[in-house]
Amino acid sequence: MLFGFIGTAEGYYEYATRECLYSTSDYSDMVLLASFSFNKVVDVQFNSTVGEFVGYTEEGVTYAKNFNKNQAFLQQLKADVDAFCKHNAQIRDSAIRNKAVKPKIKLRSVKQAEGRRPAMLMCSAYHFYPEKISVYWLRDGKVVTTDVTSTMELANGDWYYQIHSELEYSPRSGEKISCVVEHASSTQPMIYDWDPSMSESERNKFAIGASGLVLGIIIAAAGLIYYKKKSAGRILVPN
Ligand SMILES: *[C@@H]1O[C@H](CO)[C@@H](O)[C@H](O)[C@H]1NC(C)=O
Repeated sequence: MLFGFIGTAEGYYEYATRECLYSTSDYSDMVLLASFSFNKVVDVQFNSTVGEFVGYTEEGVTYAKNFNKNQAFLQQLKADVDAFCKHNAQIRDSAIRNKAVKPKIKLRSVKQAEGRRPAMLMCSAYHFYPEKISVYWLRDGKVVTTDVTSTMELANGDWYYQIHSELEYSPRSGEKISCVVEHASSTQPMIYDWDPSMSESERNKFAIGASGLVLGIIIAAAGLIYYKKKSAGRILVPN
């Protein structure tokens, strides 16, 4: 959330912004950033985690020194994490969360492991809103940070979004791989466990093989019956 206003400081007109940054639904990680900028350069910034102003330019350092002497101002900004940020986040979230649409998740095998070549899984989330989403992988309960490739959130052009994440890995027996999706439409992370015994392509191959086998048996049986009947008939016919 970004809020802007024009104010005066030390006799100069400055562009000031307030940003409320958070990623959790309980706002426990809420950070308030109050920045004073001149000609698009941030001179001085208050970060609620730090608790005081930090100057980034020569003038900014002077402002920071002065602002930081004003305990009431600092206390006000700290209180604004709740009074301003969380308050506005609640209003905003209640407007957006009600309209959130849960993604449809598809977890599938793209490549089977073959010899030294690693296997590849793809986790896709379709048809979700709003755009902000987090898709990651767990291997035996630990977040996988390497060999993961993700697309951006892709706009479908109809308010909805999709995203795809690929995991390259060398399968180990007994391990558990899951795709986790976090989105405003669900208070809990959505966890999808990979079942390596029955990947889709394996299932397809199995189904094709099984139908082929059944068809083969039927034809063989029919042929055998036909042959037996014919040869039995031949014996009965006297010459
Ligand atoms: C705010 O300060 C904390 C602590 O120094 C830091 O980790 C965080 O990145 C800062 N946030 C921004 C947006 O600068």
